[in-house]
Amino acid sequence: LPMSDIDKRNAAEAALKLVEPDMILGLGTGSTAAIFVRLLAERVKAGLKIVGTPTSEATDKLARSLGVRIVAPDELERIDLTIDGADEFDPALNLIKGGGAALLREKIIAEASDRMVVIADAGKEVKSLGAFPLPIEVNAFGSELTRRRIHHHIAGLGLESAPSSWRMATGESLLHTDGGHLILDLSCGVISDPKALGEALDEIPGVVEHGLFIGYAEQVIVGEVDGAPQRPVGHGVEA
Ligand code: A5P
Repeated sequence: LPMSDIDKRNAAEAALKLVEPDMILGLGTGSTAAIFVRLLAERVKAGLKIVGTPTSEATDKLARSLGVRIVAPDELERIDLTIDGADEFDPALNLIKGGGAALLREKIIAEASDRMVVIADAGKEVKSLGAFPLPIEVNAFGSELTRRRIHHHIAGLGLESAPSSWRMATGESLLHTDGGHLILDLSCGVISDPKALGEALDEIPGVVEHGLFIGYAEQVIVGEVDGAPQRPVGHGVEA
């Protein structure tokens, strides 16, 4: 691992301690979640019995390639514990996710989970969300109309001048998510009321889902760089 990933690894290792035999685990997406999947796979090789359900095609592929038993969400009623990364988290543990374009599947899995624990490096910690552009998953039908509706709906939330841009894949082509949708990145600056913004976006039919995860995370484990004990943030956390 590159030095810069030591903190992510420390967070992932701390999260691994929450895993118990026979759990159904939601497996997140992104570089930190991928480290967790790799560490989990080592435990599986050593005999740990768990099943995982993935939040993206990339995580599905990675977990299977490492010998982690994967079940499709269709086979499940609920999930015990989901471990996922985040792009930002605030003191109330509200999150911005979707930097990896997996926010829809991530939210489907997080909502169905008894517990969601976020693993992150210290750079993700913010006083208020919004420096990271908010990813919004948009249906391709009428996407430019939907974009205008988004700007119309959020004017009045102090976001009159939030620029937005379609996420690009490589070169000139638009990125399509695992579900075939587009991602609109909305540069908010500061989101003073994440709940109100989330509700405004939920009003718009062309918005498939947005990257504000409000009230999902029970805990954020911040990986430290120096191998010191990790710093768990959240409710009911033992320091
Ligand atoms: C994926 O869609 C995102 O929600 C990721 O969880 C987020 O981008 C974190 O990724 P890193 O762990 O690579 O920072």
